[in-house]
Amino acid sequence: MSKITTLNDFVLERQKDFAYATGELTNLLSDIAVASKIVNRDVNRAGLVDILGAKGETNIQGEEQQKLDVIADEAFIRAFKSGGEVCGIASEENDDFVAFEDENSINGKYVVLFDPLDGSSNIDVNVSIGTIFSIYRRISEPGTPAVLEDFLQKGADQVAAGYVLFGSSTMLVYSTGNGVNGFTLDPSIGEFCLSHPNIKSPDTGRIYSINEGNLDRCDPGVKEYVQYCREDDAATGRPYSGRYIGSLVADFHRNLLKGGVYIYPTTNNWPEGRLRLLYECNPLAFIAEQAGGLSTDGHQRTLDIVPTELHQRCGYYAGSKDMVEKSMSCLKHKEAKIN
Ligand code: AHG
Ligand code: MN
Ligand code: MN
Repeated sequence: MSKITTLNDFVLERQKDFAYATGELTNLLSDIAVASKIVNRDVNRAGLVDILGAKGETNIQGEEQQKLDVIADEAFIRAFKSGGEVCGIASEENDDFVAFEDENSINGKYVVLFDPLDGSSNIDVNVSIGTIFSIYRRISEPGTPAVLEDFLQKGADQVAAGYVLFGSSTMLVYSTGNGVNGFTLDPSIGEFCLSHPNIKSPDTGRIYSINEGNLDRCDPGVKEYVQYCREDDAATGRPYSGRYIGSLVADFHRNLLKGGVYIYPTTNNWPEGRLRLLYECNPLAFIAEQAGGLSTDGHQRTLDIVPTELHQRCGYYAGSKDMVEKSMSCLKHKEAKIN
């Protein structure tokens, strides 16, 4: 029987590869794993929580029922605060960043930016959802409160990033800039176990993921690419299959493993794009590139965008290298025709 490698074993093993590693990133990743297990438990009880909370909005302990995205946000914040490696967080659920000023955290080297629950419109209908996280080294001096500048770093400076997918099984996928590895939660032992070592995304695939309902609100180049995906061409395996779950994490994960492209372009009603650069696009761009894929905003590499605000949005084209390149060439081609 082959040996089971748990996430903790794996992270500790990898720590040895870094000469000056102090173990803080290792601890931070295990805090994320613990918070993920807590959220996993709550996600699995999502329907029951509603039943329990139906009368008067309180549960059996008399606590007010909360939306799962707030529950997830709090679970991760609690884990980061207690760990002491993180001096502050920014998340989709908080208007501003939160600096941890307690004695334990103020010396923390890292900041974490995250989307506590991605795909929240899918919670009530029992469809896959996820958590996305992004880790940076702080710029400000340890021992002082975290500042906005710590959070507005470009994606290329991420120290680590990843996501947790609450799907038919629960998976944690992460990278510290040295490849991508995936771990599946074995509920019988409560551990994430290495199931997808060294994930490489195929250079091309047969899946395109876009909310096609928005197509008439998109740039002509996006329409041209979707038209290309739908054309019949046996040599290139077209038409491709359209697959859109509406949970970015789930769509991205499928395309990462099978080959495909995920597109959320700028549209008339989302002129800056719908997805958030810091909590969604950057961490997944880091994973995409580490797996051999690409990520852009339609024009430039996602990881090179210098953020100016926490909740900044951007267009998003991520996945298999050849497919992202093709979609960008359609955008360029149409722009050239218009100008
Ligand atoms: P969130 O639930 O964190 O707000 O994110 C939802 C995102 C993403 O997960 C998904 O791909 C996209 O919004 C879906 O948007 P549309 O419903 O506009 O297609
Ligand atoms: Mn999201
Ligand atoms: Mn969210």
